[in-house]
Amino acid sequence: MCGIVGYVGPQAPSNRPLDVVLEGLSRLEYRGYDSAGVALAGKDGMHVAKRAGRLDNLRQELADHSAPPATTAIGHTRWATHGGPTDNNAHPHVSFDGRVAVVHNGIIENYRELAEELADRGVSVTSQTDTEIAAHHLALLLEDGADLLDAMCTLARRLEGSFTLVALDGQNPEAIVAARRNSPLVVGLGDGENFLGSDVAAFVGQTRRALELGQDRIVKVSSNNVDVVDFEGQPQEGHPFEVDWDVNAAVKGGYDTFMDKEIHEEPMAVAETLRGRTSPSGRLMLDEMRIGESVLRSIDKIIVVACGTAAYAGHVAKYAIEHWCRIPVEVELAHEFRYRDPVVNEKTLVVAISQSGETMDTLMGIRHAREQGSKVLAIVNTHGSTIARESDAVLYTHAGPEVAVASTKAFIAQITACYLLGLYLAELRGNKYEDEVATYLDELGKMPGRIEEVLESEEDIREFARSLADATSVLFLGRHVGYPVAMEGALKLKELAYIHAEGFAAGELKHGPIALIEQDLPVFVIVPTPRRPLLHSKVISNLQEVRARGARAIAIAEEGDTEAEAYAEKVFWVPRTTPTLMMPLVTVVPLQIFASELARVKGYDVDKPRNLAKSVTVE
Ligand code: F6R
Repeated sequence: MCGIVGYVGPQAPSNRPLDVVLEGLSRLEYRGYDSAGVALAGKDGMHVAKRAGRLDNLRQELADHSAPPATTAIGHTRWATHGGPTDNNAHPHVSFDGRVAVVHNGIIENYRELAEELADRGVSVTSQTDTEIAAHHLALLLEDGADLLDAMCTLARRLEGSFTLVALDGQNPEAIVAARRNSPLVVGLGDGENFLGSDVAAFVGQTRRALELGQDRIVKVSSNNVDVVDFEGQPQEGHPFEVDWDVNAAVKGGYDTFMDKEIHEEPMAVAETLRGRTSPSGRLMLDEMRIGESVLRSIDKIIVVACGTAAYAGHVAKYAIEHWCRIPVEVELAHEFRYRDPVVNEKTLVVAISQSGETMDTLMGIRHAREQGSKVLAIVNTHGSTIARESDAVLYTHAGPEVAVASTKAFIAQITACYLLGLYLAELRGNKYEDEVATYLDELGKMPGRIEEVLESEEDIREFARSLADATSVLFLGRHVGYPVAMEGALKLKELAYIHAEGFAAGELKHGPIALIEQDLPVFVIVPTPRRPLLHSKVISNLQEVRARGARAIAIAEEGDTEAEAYAEKVFWVPRTTPTLMMPLVTVVPLQIFASELARVKGYDVDKPRNLAKSVTVE
């Protein structure tokens, strides 16, 4: 995690470097927000400001002690790994001689060894971070006569772990140098000025032209030049691309929070994910499927690897793909998958689901799978992200940037992409005829409208949420595709409103969790459609069981479900949805709204829940 921004501009010093970096940091604050800092350099030397806490604290510091005009700047917003969130641990870190400033994202695993070497040379480390040692080592290399690029190559070869490291030499402020390994870094290309960012959101307000860097790359960025080399200093190419995200997508667009905006963008997220993937005759086209048809016909197992919300999207995928394609599908938390010696081979298709495309656990999972000969298909929201680059094929979800830390619209888009994948495989492998697939696609095309219908009851959901403001524990029950929705509903409540919440398979209730049911405990029950009587009747029984024990039963049910209405204290209605497998696209929406309203009413920051970061780029 952590957000990084860099800027190099014309030789005349100005306030622009600071303005650009602060704007970039505010767009990247979702990546980490426990401290922030900047280093500015120009002909009059280097100025560093940093503060624990939100970016506003840094702004205040800069207002109190105004920064000199500069030509070059680097900035950082931190999510602490080594060392607590203090002023001293905030980045940038400056070398013992005041010459070099660095910002870093990732973990330097051999920092102790590198710190001991510094001690041998009489340099002491003053912070609790693994980053500071990089500033000192670079300064020592400069002292020995290297320039910043050479020094970075030498250091990068010695660093173990994952890192994006950006450095500024106060004596030569016409360029910044950055190295990356397993950690994101993109270059923004301007006219007479250039940018660096952890992702394109850092500079999307300045330029749409960008350069993607490969793995193990170092880049030297000056106002008119961008040089890419490998860790040996050998010249390499970057891959230019145009940023297609709307700059306005990164601002709140009139909503109180990014999460509100993103929940309202869910119909669009489905529509955009479907767009361009159907021919005029209704045929499913996945042109981006770069895995050969014969390979896809020969696979005998699918393993979905993902974390958190993305893994719950994977659970929905399991129900859909197994039903449509008759292939066994396993869903694995990526961090468990990687370390338990899973059975994967060239007949396994690994599907990695990730909004950010940078989640280290998921990245390590796909690397392991590819080493075993599996093909990897990524379902990713962020273009040019590491998981996208390292997979055999990518099915992008077109949800647009998701800024709120807790995922909402990306989840909806991930489920949509999983349906597309399932239908594609079903047709390719001969489990479904083309016209059957076309019928499913037609239904999928109706989902944006159905989500809009759910959004119409937003105020009712919010009002009800306010009545539960004092709840200290909430349960969620679901069966079939309602089960992952229950788990997602519980996760949203935990992370946004800091309320203890659990999601269970409804059938599991009497195997233990029913002991938790007590007077007035709020229990959400995701009720399947009455058109699936077997499933429906079982969940209605669960509803009765919790109500009989005095719990406050809240149903998410299909319009017209009189039984749900009879047994629940409150029903959030969702429109009739065919096939049942697509119900998560509507049933999760009231749960997202509910969690966000409870967080708001409790006075919490809906977009930036405590302790969390948007993209988890460490294992
Ligand atoms: C929860 C949430 C997380 C992410 C998880 C994976 O609201 O956002 O659980 O889903 O950290 O992140 P990505 O999808 O970026 O790999």
